[in-house]
Amino acid sequence: MNSEAKDRVIIFDTTLRDGEQAPGASLNHREKLEIAHALASLKVDVIEAGFPIASPDDFNAVRAIAEAVVGPTIAALARTVERDIEAAGKAIAPATKRRIHTFSSGSDIHLKSILKVTRAQNIERSAKSVRLARTFTDDVEYSAQDTTRSDREYLVDLYTAAAEAGATTLNIPDTVGYAVPHEFAELISFLISRIKVPGIVFSVHCHDDLGMAVANSLAGVLAGARQIECSVNGLGERAGNTSLEEAVMAIRTRHDCFRLETGVNTREIYRTSRMVSSMTGIAVQRNKAIVGANAFAHESGVHQDGVLKERTTYEIMRPEDIGMEGSELVLGKHSGRHAFRDKLARLGITLTDEEVQNTYDRFIELADKKKNIYDDDILAIVRESFDAVPNAYELDYLHVAAGTGTTPTANVRLRKGGDMFQDAGCGDGPVDAALKTIDRITGIKGRLLDFSLQSVTVGMDAQGEANVRVEFEHGCILTAKAASTDIVEAGAKAYLSCVNRYLAVGKPAAPNPGP
Ligand code: KIV
Ligand code: ZN
Repeated sequence: MNSEAKDRVIIFDTTLRDGEQAPGASLNHREKLEIAHALASLKVDVIEAGFPIASPDDFNAVRAIAEAVVGPTIAALARTVERDIEAAGKAIAPATKRRIHTFSSGSDIHLKSILKVTRAQNIERSAKSVRLARTFTDDVEYSAQDTTRSDREYLVDLYTAAAEAGATTLNIPDTVGYAVPHEFAELISFLISRIKVPGIVFSVHCHDDLGMAVANSLAGVLAGARQIECSVNGLGERAGNTSLEEAVMAIRTRHDCFRLETGVNTREIYRTSRMVSSMTGIAVQRNKAIVGANAFAHESGVHQDGVLKERTTYEIMRPEDIGMEGSELVLGKHSGRHAFRDKLARLGITLTDEEVQNTYDRFIELADKKKNIYDDDILAIVRESFDAVPNAYELDYLHVAAGTGTTPTANVRLRKGGDMFQDAGCGDGPVDAALKTIDRITGIKGRLLDFSLQSVTVGMDAQGEANVRVEFEHGCILTAKAASTDIVEAGAKAYLSCVNRYLAVGKPAAPNPGP
């Protein structure tokens, strides 16, 4: 490793892969592409764009990112299985810089219960897979899941075999979030000292089950790892992954301690966080480090007084360092197309002319209903436009009557192409009545598995955003989000969006093979 590489930590973003595995965070193709562009502006080094073998949609999304996103290396995940590696290789082929990330497991419990192979078979299969991956690209990463519950001597043999077969990055995952920092650091030092293949970058991938993902990753870096796998807002399987913004800002703010750099443009952190939150529908908690609404807010009089006298009394970072500027330019009914386009650019959104036209029309409709249109309103409009499918049902009219002592009833009119369909029905509540009436009209019966609501912005006239998860026939489960100033309408639109996608797909979703 040269001295520059020694001082540089590679930021490997897995928002679109492990992040997308967060419960309720499914992203469609267009949303993934938009996030990938934002990650390129953030200047992450590697974007793990997805798991191509999981479904044709996943394959196509990785391929589209590999075709369109320039700057970072585009990585695709694959099990140590021939067809996975071939799919990953094909999906990333258009990228200028491309990586295959192939993984198996290191712990006996995984080998016995999931992979059903012996230790020796796992070594052989891993080395063979790395060799196959090298036929698609020179940049191959190998991971063994569950390293923190694995036999260390076995890990040395397994990772050495992968490195000798051609892996250039060895990633050490704490898959179940079990490690504590000093112990994880020791594991990394041990593996670095025992795996003697030259030129290898050691990487860390930590989960947050015990709330220690960031601490463990940073401990790993202090022990010699030079790649952190992380995700925006810490999204990921279960409790999530190492949060990109926390790891990057810790390395930057405590340069005295780490003496390391990342290539991340930290001024893009805040808008990327907001975009990911809007696209996934997963809100950032107010007190979340770095990007939460309270992260730079001082409430107590003593703190406010101190900050007014000298900012550094209570602030170790400046909001501008992460691109959180003081006031946002609010749009309204009289803002023209030019101001709207300018706002999209400031939010880092890249739309086609046709998409700009559609979102602008929707913006004007919303501006008729509410005075101030905030950045998060615009993000919600953009996200909804990404959900559009051809020949879809659209909500044309909705009236719901509900109240104490009355049976909630809904009157719904849907438009499809040039045709109108209308019906009325009742339910257990206003949302239930609206959804059941939609079912009567479309003839498609969905089962609502999850329904959550959150306010998009501040103010009495704020839009409510509904996030729904719906199960259709053959176990096909779809999620969608929609926003409106009327929360029943938001729920009905989100539900309808699932119905439309179900009709467009027309078949059960392909089973996801893991990881
Ligand atoms: O958590 C994990 O072990 C993973 C691997 C696929 C790297 O996500
Ligand atoms: Zn993971």
